[in-house]
Amino acid sequence: MISVFKSRNIALDLGNTNTLVADGQHVLFSQPSCIVFDQSRQKVKAVGEEAYRIYEKSHEDYMAVRPLKDGVIADFDSARTMLREMVNRVYGHGRLFSGFNRIISGVPYSTTEVERRALRDALDQFQPRQRNLIFEPLAGALGMGLNIREPNGKMVIDMGGGITEIVIISLSGIAEFESLKVAGDTFDMNIQDHFRRYYNMSIGHKTAELVKMNVGAVTHLLDEEPQPYQVKGKDLPSGLPVTRTITSSEIALVLDKSISAIESAIIRTLEKCPPELAADIYQNGIYLTGGSSLLRGIKTRFEKTIGLPIHLDKDPLSSVSRGINCALNEPRQYAGVLIN
Ligand SMILES: Nc1ncnc2c1ncn2[C@@H]1O[C@H](COP(=O)(O)OP(=O)(O)OP(=O)(O)O)[C@@H](O)[C@H]1O
Ligand SMILES: [Mg+2]
Repeated sequence: MISVFKSRNIALDLGNTNTLVADGQHVLFSQPSCIVFDQSRQKVKAVGEEAYRIYEKSHEDYMAVRPLKDGVIADFDSARTMLREMVNRVYGHGRLFSGFNRIISGVPYSTTEVERRALRDALDQFQPRQRNLIFEPLAGALGMGLNIREPNGKMVIDMGGGITEIVIISLSGIAEFESLKVAGDTFDMNIQDHFRRYYNMSIGHKTAELVKMNVGAVTHLLDEEPQPYQVKGKDLPSGLPVTRTITSSEIALVLDKSISAIESAIIRTLEKCPPELAADIYQNGIYLTGGSSLLRGIKTRFEKTIGLPIHLDKDPLSSVSRGINCALNEPRQYAGVLIN
């Protein structure tokens, strides 16, 4: 019944880490990009939040999958089923039969035609009358309220879970870009490696992500230092449970190499930028979004290394979804940024 009152449009941000479903007005669903199959019954056991709770904690009867890697679909069947389950939860089963009017989905800029085709195929199960893709950094810029149509260069950086994209936007298009597979998942791996190497301790991906959220930092110069964080894991030599306490300055050192790689890519993009657009960027500063921009001290560090003002998005986990909502509401006005 509920589907009757919901819009027949879907704005979809299928992210490496989080998937957001919106209807042009509100974000109706925002949960981890994760699905768990019940292997014995060939059924879906859980999706989103519930699936991520099971992830790394299941047994052989359950198979937990994160279907995206480096920001793109890596396991097509799981991604397709995950999307169906998520859209079902929001709109009800009935809508799947009657179809949708319009679907717009984000896609990273640096995707290949094959990767985009996989996404289109996954979207076509909803039988939309119209289906478009939009490059995620452009959607992120719209979500941040930037006027991307004017001839004025704007640098937008989307640091997500699987990919960091750095783009220079002017006249609704991308004039220059760099894309790196260095993002949230890399930071989690850096933290896992650090525990293994320095403490002989094994921790799971979810624990590493919690460490990052609780004491993650990219500089020692923090206005407010978080409390040291207790980490539980497994002592590798003995195989017994063990606890360690870690501080934000230690994590700043652990993440330094990955953050430096992102800084180098930002500098390369600025170097490649045509002079008139560069002049605009020097005036406008740099706009930063995506969940990984929540790392403590990122503004201070980037302003110091890049030498330009950094504008942080207030809600960086939803900027792409907010931007797709704009395009969904006024498809004519934003026709220039929509692709097939
Ligand atoms: N407070 C926080 N501090 C540091 N990192 C965070 C914080 N909150 C979320 N993140 C990280 O942000 C990332 C998810 O961001 P986001 O939802 O923008 O990515 P995504 O859109 O799913 O991925 P992609 O854009 O690469 O496809 C995860 O790696 C998550 O661990
Ligand atoms: Mg994203």
